[in-house]
Order: sequence, then C-alpha cells, then structure tokens
Amino acid sequence: MTGLFITLEGLEGAGKSTNQNYLANRLRAEGIEVVLTREPGGTTLTERMRDVLLAPSAEQMNSDTELLLIFAARAQHLAKVIRPALARGVVVICDRFTDSTYAYQGGGRGLPLERIATLESFVQGDLRPDLTMLFDLPIEVGIARTSVYGRLDRFELENRAFFDAVRMVFLELAKAKPARYSLIDAAQPLTQVQQAIDALLPVCLERVRG
Ligand SMILES: Nc1ncnc2c1ncn2[C@@H]1O[C@H](COP(=O)(O)OP(=O)(O)OP(=O)(O)O)[C@@H](O)[C@H]1O
Ligand SMILES: [Mg+2]
Repeated sequence: MTGLFITLEGLEGAGKSTNQNYLANRLRAEGIEVVLTREPGGTTLTERMRDVLLAPSAEQMNSDTELLLIFAARAQHLAKVIRPALARGVVVICDRFTDSTYAYQGGGRGLPLERIATLESFVQGDLRPDLTMLFDLPIEVGIARTSVYGRLDRFELENRAFFDAVRMVFLELAKAKPARYSLIDAAQPLTQVQQAIDALLPVCLERVRG
C-alpha cells in the first residue's frame, strides 16, 4: 500500500489552511483516512524549528541557514510523519512543502534553484507530492485577508518584490509540472474555490483507491 501525498501551496492568505480542512472533510466523507500536517512543522521538534524560522529576530538569518533549517526540519517531518503515514496507505495533506522552498528561498531570497534541487534529492530521495494544489491570487488580496491577524512573521515582513518573485516561481512550477499541479484561482469567493476542489475529488479518489 502506498498512500497519496497531496500538498497545498500558495502565498499568505491564499486559503491553504482553510481548504486543507475542507479537502480533508470531503475525503473523510468518502471513508478515506487523512493525515493533516504542515511545513515548516508537523512534529513537536519541527514546530520548534518553525518558530525559529518564522520569528522576527534582531540577528539576520543567513539565507543558507534558512534553507538548511527548512530541509533539516523536512527530514524530520518525513521520517516521523509523512513516510509512516504514506506507508500505512493513508492520504497526507500537507500545508506547504518543497515547492514553497523553491518559491520563497529560490524566488524570494534568490538562492540558486539547483542548490534547492540538490537538497530535495538528498532529503526526499524519490519522494515527490502526487498532487499539488496551487492557490494563486494577487499579492494584495492575500495581504488584505491576513492583515487582520496582527503581528507579521519574518516572511510577511518582506517587500513587494519578494512576493512577486514567490508568486512567479509558484506559477512557473505549475506550468512546468502540469501533471502534478492543479492551479486554483484563490481570489474567487470561497464557495467557488471549494467547487474547484470538488472538481479534483474524483482524481484524488481514483488515485487513492487505485
Ligand atoms: N476564497 C476566499 N475568499 C475570501 N476569504 C478567504 C478565502 N479563502 C480564505 N479566506 C480567508 O482568508 C484568511 C486566510 O486564509 P487561510 O488562513 O486559509 O490562508 P493560508 O493560505 O493558510 O495563509 P497563511 O499562509 O498565512 O497560513 C482566513 O481568514 C480565511 O477565512
Ligand atoms: Mg495557513
């Protein structure tokens, strides 16, 4: 048995967390076991690493340090949560994964994409998501949705050019890997976004039931 590995990607405020729950409920209604997790994070230890990654700090974090910390957390998350769940044959729905590393550390920070690809192979081996839903929306729409949260994390403090680059890399990935990616217009009202997710359900069910 191998499960199904679904990742949800997109900018801040795109609706990843909201729709992670929606998708999980739709699959559960079909009698399918689902594990929900997120990156960075997903285990006790890696949630602490998430805090280090997201907390604004007086000492500027070196971009390579950031990249390595993300992949260090990913190795732990894969070992403790993702691989065991997939081995049990369940569906894993992960809020952000390596495509966010390409987008934020590659696009946003400007790190060479080949360096990220090297770490991806090192940490993940052959493991890649089976399906990735990209919740795409204009940057200002996402900012407007999350501005109600209050304090900004270390990434949310970045400038417009950073997020332009992040969005562009996400869109390029979706274009380069159409078999894995579903592009969802996340600027639409939630009911329409969820209709787009419903349209992907048959594919998910077919893949998980073999
Ligand atoms: N399609 C939508 N239309 C309007 N509001 C939405 C829509 N989708 C989500 N929201 C709202 O926008 C806010 C951000 O959504 P959510 O937390 O799911 O985004 P996210 O992608 O997980 O963001 P983050 O990267 O910051 O965790 C929430 O208050 C949510 O209710
Ligand atoms: Mg979220």
